[in-house]
Amino acid sequence: MTLNTWIDLVYLLAAIGFILALKGLSSPKHARNGNLLGAAAAAVAIGFTFAYPEVRAHTLNLVLTLVAMAIGAAIAVPAARMVKMTAMPQMVAIFNGVGGGAAALISIVVFLLEAPGKPAVYRIAEVLFGVLVGSVSFSGSAIAFAKLQELMTGRPITYPAQQAINAVVGVTIVALAVGTLVTGNVPLLVATAVLSLVLGVIFVLPIGGADVPVLISLLNSFTGLAVAASGFTLNNNLLIIAGTLVGASGILLTRMMSKAMGRSLANVLFSAFGSVVTAAGGADGSAESRPVKAGTPEDIGVLLAYARKVVIIPGYGLAVAQAQHTARELADLLMERGVEVFYAIHPVAGRMPGHMNVLLAEANVPYDELKEMDEANPEMSTADVALVIGANDTVNPAAKNTPGSPIYGMPIINADDAENIVFLKRSMRPGFAGIDNELLFDEKTTLLFGDAKDTLAKLVAAVKDA
Ligand code: TAP
Repeated sequence: MTLNTWIDLVYLLAAIGFILALKGLSSPKHARNGNLLGAAAAAVAIGFTFAYPEVRAHTLNLVLTLVAMAIGAAIAVPAARMVKMTAMPQMVAIFNGVGGGAAALISIVVFLLEAPGKPAVYRIAEVLFGVLVGSVSFSGSAIAFAKLQELMTGRPITYPAQQAINAVVGVTIVALAVGTLVTGNVPLLVATAVLSLVLGVIFVLPIGGADVPVLISLLNSFTGLAVAASGFTLNNNLLIIAGTLVGASGILLTRMMSKAMGRSLANVLFSAFGSVVTAAGGADGSAESRPVKAGTPEDIGVLLAYARKVVIIPGYGLAVAQAQHTARELADLLMERGVEVFYAIHPVAGRMPGHMNVLLAEANVPYDELKEMDEANPEMSTADVALVIGANDTVNPAAKNTPGSPIYGMPIINADDAENIVFLKRSMRPGFAGIDNELLFDEKTTLLFGDAKDTLAKLVAAVKDA
């Protein structure tokens, strides 16, 4: 067997590793191993790429590549280690964006090398695809990052004739791409790349912060496709396979997230969701005039301590408060007293897929104490207490009862079926969707205001005293 055949064999094993890694990532129990397997497969594949004779022949390029890898690792490793869980979506956005940008640059470089003797049309098509999709992903991810990092407003940015302007840019890109395809002209390709960067920006501007995580998943899929295209350009099978896996899994995840929000992908991308805050509670935290029942930690501690079944419903506020460890302490304490406790996990609780699973895994909550929404909902009517910790939209009955509500049709955790509902939140402010939650005013509901970490610590003390 030749060396190249050996490398192809290693690539094949790496591709199998990627597929098994994706399988592992689909369950909280196997996610960590899946992640490690994927990383190991990528490391081995990258290592063997250096064995290619044509790679080893270019010493200067080899040195430059190793230096670039060292700089990249020096930035990425500490960034990934230090990032807060709530900032993970923007980290994914920026990492994804540079992947798309790299794919576009590779396509451009290959084109520049081949351009003097007009490349075959199919070669130009591969390059164009990588440039167009990679550039959109790069600039779109940069804007998504800026929105989530609050470097710019998270609200949808709309302006007159927006759709018409987008259409003009889109049509111009198609015209430039056709021109490049026919002539193999370098300036036309560069113009396509520049306008694709513009398209990425204007595509993302009207998408509200609430929908940006879904958008990032879509852009992730774009990056995968751009990488697959650069795999064709470079004749590298592994890039084709890995890019296609990312492209396919990204689009599936995008679909699942849209479905869990009860909305179509088109609605997520083009409805400028979140431009209007409809909550009477007000984003400023001013309470609505209607009365609510606020409880003390002592009352709620007794309610929990003497309950038979308590369902904990975590949401974004749990992540903000970093209260996962205290939540587990409370759950353990209740279980020691013989109370049946489980965590009901909504698929889009928090701000990214699997947010609550990761958070609770950090506090070593056993996987069998977590129930997905469909498994939890039939049990909600037998719960004595639904303890909602920093969740709002994902338990808002408007999703079931109020046609016309922006979240109407989104599946929710039926906290309203429980005998008692306790909300831990800081104010009457709405959740991400910016709409009121009638459940806060329900007569079965008691509110305990404050940062979830503090209120949970008070509940732990109260349960101990009960
Ligand atoms: P939200 O509806 O956003 O509600 C979070 C609640 O946490 C708020 O009511 C807030 O009220 C409270 N909170 C914030 N900081 C807190 C703290 N330190 N202590 C106690 N409470 C705190 O959260 P959710 O129920 O998890 O729903 C997620 C939302 O994000 C959905 O609308 C979903 O569609 C959207 N979304 C999710 C994803 C993914 S993939 N997860 C992607 C895109 C969009 P106060 O300010 O009064 O404390």
